[in-house]
Amino acid sequence: MTSTAPHTPVPLAVLLSGRGSNFLALQAAIEAGELPARIVRVVSNVEGAPGIARAEALGLPTTILPHGGHRNAEGGVDRKGHEAAVIAALEESGAEWICLAGYMRLLSPGFVQRFPRRILNIHPSLLPAFPGLHAQEQAWRHGVRIAGCTVHLVDDGLDSGPIVLQRVVEVRDGDTPDDLARRILQEEHIAYPQALRRLLAEPWRVDGRRLCFST
Ligand code: GRF
Repeated sequence: MTSTAPHTPVPLAVLLSGRGSNFLALQAAIEAGELPARIVRVVSNVEGAPGIARAEALGLPTTILPHGGHRNAEGGVDRKGHEAAVIAALEESGAEWICLAGYMRLLSPGFVQRFPRRILNIHPSLLPAFPGLHAQEQAWRHGVRIAGCTVHLVDDGLDSGPIVLQRVVEVRDGDTPDDLARRILQEEHIAYPQALRRLLAEPWRVDGRRLCFST
C-alpha cells in the first residue's frame, strides 16, 4: 500500500450516528498538529445527533441523511438509495479517507469497494472478541480481565476487517459496565488518531487478514 507524506493534509470524512466523541478526538489531534488531515465533511444518518451539533459548532461542513428518509416501493427502508446518497455526499466532499465514529449502519460491499482500504472503524472491544452492539457490556458479562478497543479497516463483515491498532484496558473487580466503557472510551480517543496517523505516515500492506507496517 502507498503512504502519504505526513505534511500533506488528507481530506477526511467522518460518519457518525451519536455523540461524536471520537470525531472530536480526531479533530483535536488535527488541531494539535498531530494528524495530517482535515475534516471535509461530517455525515450522519440521525437527525439531531449530538455529534452533528458539535461539528457545526466547529464550523465543519455537515450532511444529515436520515436512513428512514429513503423508502422503496413496498414502503420499507431503501438501503441502497440511502447509501447512494451518502456516497454522493462523500464524493462531493473530496474525502479520501472515511472514519466511522459510532456510525450505526452496516456498509454494503458496494460502499466498501467504493473506498477500498480507505474506511476505518473503531470498536470498543479487543476484536475478534465481542463484535456488534454493547461490546463493553458483553466483555464485562463474559468476565474478561482484559478489555480494550480496536481500530480496523472496514470490510464487508461486522467489525471484521484487518486490525490497525488495539489498546488494552484492565477490568477491575469493582467495575460496572459503565465504568469499563468509560475507561475504554478514553483509550479510543488515543487509538483513533494514532491509528490513522500511522496509516498516513508509514508504508503498509494487507497480507491476508494481517495489516503490516512495512513495504
Ligand atoms: C464508541 O464506543 C465506538 O467505539 C463505537 O461507538 C461509540 C461511539 O462513541 N463504534 P462516540 O459517538 O464517538 O462518542
